[in-house]
Amino acid sequence: MSLEANKAFAAVLTAGIAFMVAGFIGQQIVHPKRLDKTAITIEGVGASTGAPAAEAPALPEIGPLLANANVDNGRQIAGRLCSACHTFEDGGANKVGPNLYGVVGGPHAHRSDFNYSSAMAGLKEKPWNYEELNHFLASPSRYIRGTRMAFAGISNTQQRADVIAYLRSLAASPQPLP
Ligand code: HEC
Repeated sequence: MSLEANKAFAAVLTAGIAFMVAGFIGQQIVHPKRLDKTAITIEGVGASTGAPAAEAPALPEIGPLLANANVDNGRQIAGRLCSACHTFEDGGANKVGPNLYGVVGGPHAHRSDFNYSSAMAGLKEKPWNYEELNHFLASPSRYIRGTRMAFAGISNTQQRADVIAYLRSLAASPQPLP
């Protein structure tokens, strides 16, 4: 072997050994170990206390926004976000989700011909009022645990108001505004 090759080989070997030694020393110094308990508990996040998850942050009330909500904008948003799973017209077919005509003021699980989750079906006694819809559409799975509506939610309050105003319009005689 030439001297140059020897040098190169030695350099690689040295680097390798240095790498191993550094790793070994690192292990000795750092002792990675999982904590048994969460080190910090942030109020309201409810991580390690065993308490039920903290209440969802309060949503602004939707009622005051409905009077001036934009039904047309709501229709457009619904067309974009909801129409993959829902139809809206009277007598429209159920898709992945139920037809939504007349849902406002109707009971939860308002279509007798749709196979709802037991979570939704269990709320059948409750009518869909504006605040229920506000919470549901903000975060479906947080508001109704176990719902099959796989939709993240509409975080923008004005957009939610517009969509709810549009849902309200889907009726022969829409529910009174709050
Ligand atoms: C990925 C499909 C999907 C999308 C997107 C979706 N939904 Fe749903 N939706 C469902 C399913 C499925 C259900 C039935 C949930 C259950 O049974 O738990 C449902 C239920 C509902 C209900 C309750 C109906 C009833 O009869 O009680 C409302 C109201 C509703 N959706 C509104 C909307 C609106 C408004 C949007 C758009 C902003 C939307 N959904 C987007 C699938 C979807």
